[in-house]
Amino acid sequence: MTVPLRGGLGPARLLRLQRGRCNAIKELLRSSSMNNGTLLQSCRNYRAALCTELTKPLIVRNLPSPPLQPHEVRVGVHYCGVNFADILACRGLYQEKHCLPFTPGMEFSGTVMETGANVSTVQEGDRVIGVSSMSAMAEECVADQKMLWPIPEGVSYEEAAALPVSYGTAILALDQRARTQPGETVLVTAAAGATGLAAIDVAANVLKTKVIAAAGSDHKCNLALEKGAAHSVNYTQGSLKEEVKKLTENRGVNVVLDAVGGDIFKEALYSLAWEGRIVVVGFAGGAIPSVPANLLLLKNVSALGVYWGRYREEDFPVFSSSISSALWYCQERRIRPHLGAVFKLEEVNEAFSRVTQRKSTGKVIISVK
Ligand SMILES: NC(=O)c1ccc[n+]([C@@H]2O[C@H](COP(=O)([O-])OP(=O)(O)OC[C@H]3O[C@@H](n4cnc5c(N)ncnc54)[C@H](OP(=O)(O)O)[C@@H]3O)[C@@H](O)[C@H]2O)c1
Repeated sequence: MTVPLRGGLGPARLLRLQRGRCNAIKELLRSSSMNNGTLLQSCRNYRAALCTELTKPLIVRNLPSPPLQPHEVRVGVHYCGVNFADILACRGLYQEKHCLPFTPGMEFSGTVMETGANVSTVQEGDRVIGVSSMSAMAEECVADQKMLWPIPEGVSYEEAAALPVSYGTAILALDQRARTQPGETVLVTAAAGATGLAAIDVAANVLKTKVIAAAGSDHKCNLALEKGAAHSVNYTQGSLKEEVKKLTENRGVNVVLDAVGGDIFKEALYSLAWEGRIVVVGFAGGAIPSVPANLLLLKNVSALGVYWGRYREEDFPVFSSSISSALWYCQERRIRPHLGAVFKLEEVNEAFSRVTQRKSTGKVIISVK
């Protein structure tokens, strides 16, 4: 298990680091075009996906390996997770803005290649997963030593790459935010997505709750049932609220994790039982709903939010333990991440389309090796 450390990178420092990196990439692209696309061979290069213009397809380019700061580690990336946040960032719609050009990618698994002078937590050859504020869709990723967690024996690079964002979010939403108890009933929307299947896995197989999975097709509902949900509702075929009522004999559910927003959020809110908790995870459907406050009062229910990445700044021990817990559950085979698709780095735009077209199930990852 990782020993959690306090104090991540502050927002101002992160921004300075990102700016410095952007300038380096800009300079590289400039010299690359001056040399007809052939890079100067004076340093080692690595391939990376680059967003050079918002809303336009990514390109794969060679970039020079940057020197390491004393606390930094260079990781040879094996797999990198694709997240909604990467896609939003490349459209300029994510809450954290990145200056162009940048390499997307918030999570990765790989092998330590090189360590900075002050690094004491990992050494060359170690298998690790890592979190970066963007830059992981590449053959190499430089990370602060605090942002790496050792992959335990028995957990593969593929599985490990699927854990940080989706399982970290599911664990924090269910445990830290909703305080979910064994035996409670949990409704998960977008249930066959990356966060959805992770939430079902943790809720059913770790927290021992009864899960109702809600998704947009019968195929997705079946997958959620295979993962451990007790019941499923296809919300394109009728009212989610009415189906939940039937399934719970009018009692409603204790906890909701909603990643869709819009009308699905509202139906889920109406499906809460007495003293129920709804956790806002995301707005995959695009519409941000408003909460009728009278309902919170009348049913004694709570509306909560979860923003996993923000814990990195505000409460690092909680952030770190969401990742170490996921690794531990995976090693114990209590959870089994579902890999919906694996794309090559050159297929990064196809990987993004798979997610935006609502065709993906579970985690989409990019194989870099
Ligand atoms: N708060 C946090 O810390 C946190 C962490 C991770 C993710 N998120 C957010 O949670 C949401 C889901 O993330 P994810 O990684 O689980 O994504 P995902 O794997 O792509 O799943 C998203 C699911 O949302 C549903 N959906 C409904 N309307 C959609 C639309 N218009 N376009 C695309 N999908 C739509 C789809 O399921 P159906 O077809 O079954 O409806 C889809 O499978 C995103 O908004 C993401 O930003 C938040």
